[in-house]
Amino acid sequence: MDLRTKPSFHSEAFTLPPGWYVVLESSEVARKKPLSFTRFGLPLVAWRNSDKKVIIQSNICPHRGAKLSLGSINGDRIVCPFHGFEFSQDGHCAFIPEIQKPAPGLKIKRYETFEFAGWIWIKWQDDECKELKPNWFKQAPERLYTYRFSELWPVHFTRSVENQLDFSHLPFVHRTSIGRFSKVGQHPKAELSDDGIKFYFGDPEKSFVELLFPNIWLNYISPKYMLSLAFAPVDDSHTKLYLQGHRAHLAWPPLSWLANYFDRAVNKWVLSQDRRVVTSQEPQNSLLASEALMKSDELIRHFRKWLLPK
Ligand code: FES
Ligand SMILES: [Fe+2]
Repeated sequence: MDLRTKPSFHSEAFTLPPGWYVVLESSEVARKKPLSFTRFGLPLVAWRNSDKKVIIQSNICPHRGAKLSLGSINGDRIVCPFHGFEFSQDGHCAFIPEIQKPAPGLKIKRYETFEFAGWIWIKWQDDECKELKPNWFKQAPERLYTYRFSELWPVHFTRSVENQLDFSHLPFVHRTSIGRFSKVGQHPKAELSDDGIKFYFGDPEKSFVELLFPNIWLNYISPKYMLSLAFAPVDDSHTKLYLQGHRAHLAWPPLSWLANYFDRAVNKWVLSQDRRVVTSQEPQNSLLASEALMKSDELIRHFRKWLLPK
């Protein structure tokens, strides 16, 4: 099949590989208010059951297609706003007001979820990834979560991730910020595996950058400061970026507030430099591109192999 004709996430031609993907931030999902959102090009709804566990399901009512997110939560059920059909957390229709009975054969798709450290993951393509566990960095739990923010970028998932593997843009895109002292033509040491991509210029015990498949990027700046960035695939032309700063120093509130304020501003500035160029890339889906890749693009090549294994 020709990829160029069907670039949609849920088409047969390009579906993101199976795995646990970060899709939301915990604070986005409230107990009583269903959240409407799009990931993998699909309309989804997120809500919390009576144990506060996050439930993520298809947002389309199988009766006549209304958005379930416009409805309400009744105990451990979501209620459609149109004719009151109630769906349990496992997706079965538990009650139809017109017949006063359940219809267990009527179902909405439910996705397995996992919540940790302020992020929510879903198991994507669960039939094919039974053994997969959420991929998370081991250094995080004992750190203080200092600040977080998110940005919706009008770019394809591939372009947003590849940008964070592209170290050779530093002296150009970021010449006024983090790339000020970067040298053109310098190549890092890289470790490429089935789980991700790790690269570093000096001692990896002190600092490294790592992409954990499928969608988390870490910048381990020092043993006391780290950034993590998740790329939530929205649709063919949008990706939501969730950034967290983790600091193991400057814990005293006035100082940490000041440091957080400064770091957030710097990170937003650096990302705005990236965004300006990445949103200009053609075609949007890098898997459709025919490009003149260089030695410095080796990490991007590896990422593309993971996306589309032969
Ligand atoms: S469309 Fe949902 S109950 Fe009718
Ligand atoms: Fe950049």
